[in-house]
Amino acid sequence: MGHSPFEGHLFVLMKLDMTTESYLSNMEELKALALKELEKARTAEELEQWRAAFLGRKGRVTQVVRALSGLSPHERPRAGAVANEAKTLLEARLAERQEALKGAELEQLSAQSIDVTLPGRQITLGGLHPVTQIVREICGVFTSMGFQVVEGPEVEWDAYNFEKLNIPQDHPARDMWSTLWVDYRDQQGRYPMLLRTHTSPMQARIMEQTMPPVRVVVPGKCYRYEATDATHESQFYQIEGLAVDEGITFAHLKGTLYEFARQVFGSDRKARFRCDYFPFVEPGVEMSIDCFACQGRGEEACRVCRGSGWIEIMGAGMVHPNVLRGVGYDPEVYTGFAFGLGPERIAMLKYGIEDIRLFYANDIRFLRQF
Ligand code: DAH
Repeated sequence: MGHSPFEGHLFVLMKLDMTTESYLSNMEELKALALKELEKARTAEELEQWRAAFLGRKGRVTQVVRALSGLSPHERPRAGAVANEAKTLLEARLAERQEALKGAELEQLSAQSIDVTLPGRQITLGGLHPVTQIVREICGVFTSMGFQVVEGPEVEWDAYNFEKLNIPQDHPARDMWSTLWVDYRDQQGRYPMLLRTHTSPMQARIMEQTMPPVRVVVPGKCYRYEATDATHESQFYQIEGLAVDEGITFAHLKGTLYEFARQVFGSDRKARFRCDYFPFVEPGVEMSIDCFACQGRGEEACRVCRGSGWIEIMGAGMVHPNVLRGVGYDPEVYTGFAFGLGPERIAMLKYGIEDIRLFYANDIRFLRQF
């Protein structure tokens, strides 16, 4: 127990032979002291200490009241009345102070309480990468037309990336794809493994595993051994498409890809198909749409079509009979069309992005725009 903070104060003990006058003056002095001390008490704890020191069982006021017995019986009532009055006053003052303190504490509590109407702290949400978003959008267009989404390996065999796609060893068509080879030789000393240069190898993998009807789209990363510039990256996405069944014609290819272009670039688009060469299709085409920026007028200043009025959006064609035969399909029974597009290029055209490298530079200011 800490010692009483009031101990230092003088208190004259009542003697049995004291006079009523000295009793009363002592009482007065004690009352004044008690009131002064009460002023100083600031906390509930201090108030309690004060109460114990003055009004407690061994408190000074209590002792003085007890000392009444030392007065002569006929003096007692007068002194007793004064003493009781002092005691009652001190008790009342204590109660007042306790009330006031409680009020102040409540006020402080309510000042500290939570204002539930304040807006919460802003939460920063992450977002999907723009390439993820465009890949999902494109795949969504094809799934709405009945295509399934499948994925394949990024480290691929030469057999799937080239040979089964009608691109034999040492054929000059291989120059179309600058290839990153895996440093691993087979028993003939050849390098049979690579990072896929396109998503087309999945055409062969899927046809080997299933019989027609086949309708799939294959999104995935591809790699090329190439210097980067505004329109080339050494790592990029492609989305491959393949539809094989009895009686598939070039009209199905046109209808499907035209519908894709309308859904992604707007319903008033025109499409143009021109001959192109890809070893795994015959005939092969390059598909373009009329420029949505200058409405196909081919304005010289148009940054999107660079004045031609047309924008190339993908390669496509009818699956080559050699490819069908290679996976065990009879080309006399089954025909099909295939296509391959670059989602970054689609996003660049759609959103006016000037440099493909922005997608992979991880600059948050760019990524946040999507
Ligand atoms: N794989 C080709 C490339 O990377 C793109 C392509 C062209 C895919 C024509 C196809 C197609 O399926 O039919 O250049």
